[in-house]
Amino acid sequence: MNHLKEKISQLKAEKNAVILAHYYVAPEVQEIADYVGDSFYLAKIAKSSDADTIVFCGVEFMGESAKILSPEKTVLMPDASADCAMAHMASVENVLKIKEEYDDIAVVCYINSSAALKTVSDVCVTSANALKIVKALPNKNIYFIPDKNLGSFVKQNSDKNVILNEGWCPIHNNITAEDIKAVKQQHSGVQVLMHPECTDDVLAYADYIGSTSGIINYAEKSSENEFIIITETGVAYELQKRNPDKTFYFPEPLPVCADMKKITLQKVYDCLKDNLNAVEIDDETREKALISLDRMLELAR
Ligand code: 13P
Ligand code: SF4
Repeated sequence: MNHLKEKISQLKAEKNAVILAHYYVAPEVQEIADYVGDSFYLAKIAKSSDADTIVFCGVEFMGESAKILSPEKTVLMPDASADCAMAHMASVENVLKIKEEYDDIAVVCYINSSAALKTVSDVCVTSANALKIVKALPNKNIYFIPDKNLGSFVKQNSDKNVILNEGWCPIHNNITAEDIKAVKQQHSGVQVLMHPECTDDVLAYADYIGSTSGIINYAEKSSENEFIIITETGVAYELQKRNPDKTFYFPEPLPVCADMKKITLQKVYDCLKDNLNAVEIDDETREKALISLDRMLELAR
């Protein structure tokens, strides 16, 4: 294993490459990454890095966004089949139809979406900035795609007319209020930190709602020593690393994103060695999708 880590490090230097990893990938992959973070942070790094090659340890939409923001770089995916099911749970036709129906509407696209959906959107958001960006938009009507749960969270916390789309994260949407009640009963009085991809009835139990980074930062700054964490289990690695003396509990069944877990050290090495699974996006798609991603970076500042 160490041998593999050394070989990855050598290849990185030879190719002027950086490794970006999302908090949901396996601990051994987060450990070798140059940058680990939530979707917003990783998109900003992809744009600002001066590396020639980015190895993106995450799912398809993350690699696509990196390539859209940095077309001159080679963006490699350790596993080309690692995808986010929710990224495909909205249709371009439907977006165009809704745009026709309303005068004063902005299409707000969660970054967990295909490049095609980004081409018909006015602005992208992540869970770290969705509320701030929606509030900053001049439009009264918002069509929020693809996540109905993040959309509903935004709707309840802003005065916009947010139109929801039938899309969801299969991992977060599966967590039930019963699961939360059970873990709270086992650890009574412990604060509950949640990701906004959870359903409304689950979010009702939250003491804090935020992105993966938001959850990690909250736990670090808090004077509490125990937390119930309601998101994918990959965040446990960074939580424990930053807070060796604190304890974190997860609900049962454990929320695990099988696609994020497809990324292994061997696949990171293989893709870097042979330039495998390079993300390619045609110019027209890239130019149109870039508008919504750039607008996010602008409005989130
Ligand atoms: P974050 O942007 O909060 O890291 O979330 C990404 C994601 O895929 C959540 O399921
Ligand atoms: Fe997509 Fe959910 Fe996996 Fe995040 S956890 S990548 S939203 S399927």
